[in-house]
Amino acid sequence: MNILLTGGAGFIGSHIGDALIADGHTVIAVDNLSTGDRENVNNEAYFYECDIRDRDAIDRVFRENRIDLVSHHAAQTDVRRSVARPGYDASVNILGLLNLMDCCLQHNVARVMFASTGGAIYGEQDYFPADEKHPTRPISPYGVSKLSSEAYLYYYSAVHGVDVAILRYANVYGPRQNPHGEAGVAAIFTNNILAGKECVINGDGSQTRDYVFVGDVVAANVAALPNRGYNVFNIGTGEETDVNRMYDLLRMYAGSDTVPLHGPGKSGEQKRSVLDASKIGRVYGWKPTETVESGLSKTVSWFMSRAAMAVPTV
Ligand SMILES: NC(=O)c1ccc[n+]([C@@H]2O[C@H](COP(=O)([O-])OP(=O)(O)OC[C@H]3O[C@@H](n4cnc5c(N)ncnc54)[C@H](O)[C@@H]3O)[C@@H](O)[C@H]2O)c1
Repeated sequence: MNILLTGGAGFIGSHIGDALIADGHTVIAVDNLSTGDRENVNNEAYFYECDIRDRDAIDRVFRENRIDLVSHHAAQTDVRRSVARPGYDASVNILGLLNLMDCCLQHNVARVMFASTGGAIYGEQDYFPADEKHPTRPISPYGVSKLSSEAYLYYYSAVHGVDVAILRYANVYGPRQNPHGEAGVAAIFTNNILAGKECVINGDGSQTRDYVFVGDVVAANVAALPNRGYNVFNIGTGEETDVNRMYDLLRMYAGSDTVPLHGPGKSGEQKRSVLDASKIGRVYGWKPTETVESGLSKTVSWFMSRAAMAVPTV
């Protein structure tokens, strides 16, 4: 297939691009490089540096390529930025999606996969782990924009017959995650530990997340490629890990004995988040293969090799 991959220079999107190319697909990557890196993009992908909100630029991508499916991973992903600038978040996450969908209708592209979020959409959970039927109560503009995107995609599916697979990711981590943003605690901590900088844990560190390795997220995207109709799938491990344990594992794999600082707890931060991903297991046979231990160990190895490459030899 010819797959238009938005956010193709980003952390998750670039890994998906690699897998699709390895499977023989043609990847047309679109990214404005706001948080992504051109170096992440597979050499065999076609690359367009453009903004998903730019109608003419996106239309050109559709005109120049016969697209079979859109895998939409470009987004404003920073929860705190969404709180500070909800209009900007909506412009990228909602208006950018509508721009893409307009082009899909105009160019007869009727298959879409969408990177949504399990953590931010469910809000503080009523039960653990949350399945796809759990009430959606986002408490950030980012969660609202992802939930709105899902609703728009439902409209495109119901009224225009577009096949839509919504993948609600848990907390994704792994190689290439940007350690300089606000999100991505595994990348931020690993980077700091390796650089000998202090790590600050918000509050007592007992808040839990469902950490899923990027390779498993890629496998879920590949597994769901045949999707028809409108379907929502959680992508997570069903395992809760608290921030203290995550820090301890990273420190151990990095061979460091540094002690973290504890800062004040962040108001509004979710206490617990964990997903039940058994639905995609039943439908497509997907299940995660990495434990948090094996995945974090691979992540630390990748950051260490990158740090070693960056050190000039004399
Ligand atoms: N990382 C996670 O834990 C996680 C969890 C749930 C959902 N997601 C979703 O997965 C997707 C990928 O996230 P990621 O973690 O790889 O983040 P990322 O920031 O590495 O990737 C997002 C990419 O989108 C690009 N982008 C941003 N705005 C754009 C615009 N206006 N036009 C074109 N490109 C633009 C960025 O340059 C970047 O390459 C996002 O939709 C995100 O919301 C991620």
